[in-house]
Amino acid sequence: MILALETSCDETAAAVVTDDGEIRSNVVASQAELHARYGGVVPEVASRRHLELVSPVVRESLGLAGIRLDDVERVAVTRGPGLIGALLVGMAAAKAIAWSRRLPLVPVDHLHGHVASLYLRPEPLEPPFLALLASGGHTLLLDVREQGRFERLGTTIDDAAGEAFDKGARLLGLGYPGGVAIDRLAATGDPHAFDFPVARVPGLDFSFSGLKTALLYAVRPLEPADLERRRADLAASYQAAIVRALVERVHEGAERTGAERIAIVGGVAANSALRAALPEATAAPLPLCTDNAAMIASAARFVEPVPYPRYLGLDAYASAE
Ligand code: KG4
Ligand code: ZN
Repeated sequence: MILALETSCDETAAAVVTDDGEIRSNVVASQAELHARYGGVVPEVASRRHLELVSPVVRESLGLAGIRLDDVERVAVTRGPGLIGALLVGMAAAKAIAWSRRLPLVPVDHLHGHVASLYLRPEPLEPPFLALLASGGHTLLLDVREQGRFERLGTTIDDAAGEAFDKGARLLGLGYPGGVAIDRLAATGDPHAFDFPVARVPGLDFSFSGLKTALLYAVRPLEPADLERRRADLAASYQAAIVRALVERVHEGAERTGAERIAIVGGVAANSALRAALPEATAAPLPLCTDNAAMIASAARFVEPVPYPRYLGLDAYASAE
């Protein structure tokens, strides 16, 4: 029985997962509303909120799993990348829980966590496969040959795909977080109404900052009433451009590596247009796309645990390793 904690950004999450990948509980307390009025995540506000939420969320995850702390055999926690203060809250809580029961601690990389969202029951995916990891902080094309390891084939040279959604939503006056809002509004718009460019960068890398500027130029000349009228078309066209960029790279990556299977993970993998544009791909289940602790527990199964009490000095890291 693995108890996992995830606090890398603005979700306070805890989950109980068995060694063979069955989710017993998966609790996510989102802080999105708290940050909405600032138009994005405020790191210090996030850290403080994690501090308030972490104990009740852990308690709830144990309760829903129908177990007690005594039944936990390993404690897993996201070590990075993410907001350093936010990560430290999860690390401190996980260390305290593990230390109090003399349990081993498993430090987990958040990106490996997203990939490991595919390894959970009832339908675990087996490597090898090509994975697109698209979230608020990352856009990676990964060659996954075995569980717990991957090779990076491409990354974004500027904004992440989720960041492009969030910034686009802001320009369209849709608030934060923007991905879901654009997804919903785009369903009522025409994806061909506006011609937004797909950036061409060398290799298998991504770029989204030009697209964001193109949206700005399309929105700026519009009178408020016109923007209101065209908002759904703008959202649909903008979303289509992001999806096109992602899908093109996925197909190029599959061709280059000879991958027979494709998977999509991370918050942006929840996007309905992206899922529809890659019908052949295995998409992470919707509740496991955005940040959660079940994926961290899943990844922990493929990481060497640090024995009691050696982990007490372990640090978090903000940027990808
Ligand atoms: O994986 P995640 O929860 O956190 C990070 O690790 O960054 O991803 C959050 C990102 C946000 O940028 C959010 O706008 C985006 O995923 N997102 C979506 C959708 N749901 C979440 N983007 C597009 N369509 C969605 N349905
Ligand atoms: Zn994430």
